[in-house]
Amino acid sequence: MNTLSDADLDKQTVTKAYARWAPVYDLVFGAVFERGRHAAIASAERIGGRILEVGVGTGISLPNYSKNCRLCGIDISAPMLRKAEERVAELGLTNVEGLWVMDAERLSFDDNSFDVVVAQYVITTVPNPEATLDEFARVLKPGGEIILVSRIGAEAGLRRSLEHWFQPAARKLGWRTEFSFDRYVRWASRTAGMRLIERRAMPPFGHFNLIRFGKEDEAGEFLEAHSVRAAS
Ligand SMILES: C[S@@+](CC[C@H](N)C(=O)[O-])C[C@H]1O[C@@H](n2cnc3c(N)ncnc32)[C@H](O)[C@@H]1O
Repeated sequence: MNTLSDADLDKQTVTKAYARWAPVYDLVFGAVFERGRHAAIASAERIGGRILEVGVGTGISLPNYSKNCRLCGIDISAPMLRKAEERVAELGLTNVEGLWVMDAERLSFDDNSFDVVVAQYVITTVPNPEATLDEFARVLKPGGEIILVSRIGAEAGLRRSLEHWFQPAARKLGWRTEFSFDRYVRWASRTAGMRLIERRAMPPFGHFNLIRFGKEDEAGEFLEAHSVRAAS
């Protein structure tokens, strides 16, 4: 169930936008999002195992994972994914199990398939963010984590007004400027077995957040609870 009007983005607009971004994506968005990507990967590697990168794009983050992690990547944009395939071949990334053109809202993976689901700069580009998070939770193994890096819209003030003004243009570029953190809080609170475990500000300007959700394990506990206990 979507909690806000999501008529602002549709898949056709998004795929068209990323077909245009593909040739220049790394140049424009490589460095600016680097710290967020590194932070997400560091969090994912605490768990390791089989990792799904949703909206893997040009595969820019794939070389940064440890070779012990098994990586699967999906993206709705075939031109973006072709870049990822070239990167995997050029760098000989043998820990990449596969790359598929696939919609984040309808993942063709079985339930409980991955130890970690990572989505960097993706949730604000999908038409139905809550339905997409439901899919992430479904394919995640008990005890696993969803790790997002995502833009958070301002709640008030000048930035809020600017984001509102810029939203129609942003839509054509393939993303939303308006997205409240409260949507994540509400999704976690209504989703059985999922818990919000971290929110961390990320550059540029702290307008992005690293967000982690944990999935209850078979004993009804969360991995975070284990690590907190182990550290205390
Ligand atoms: C801003 S880019 C982020 C790419 C990469 N994760 C990064 O760190 O730079 C957003 C990516 O999400 C993909 N995307 C958008 N909507 C999607 C959907 N419904 N299913 C799968 N991928 C989607 C886009 O094609 C694009 O590659």
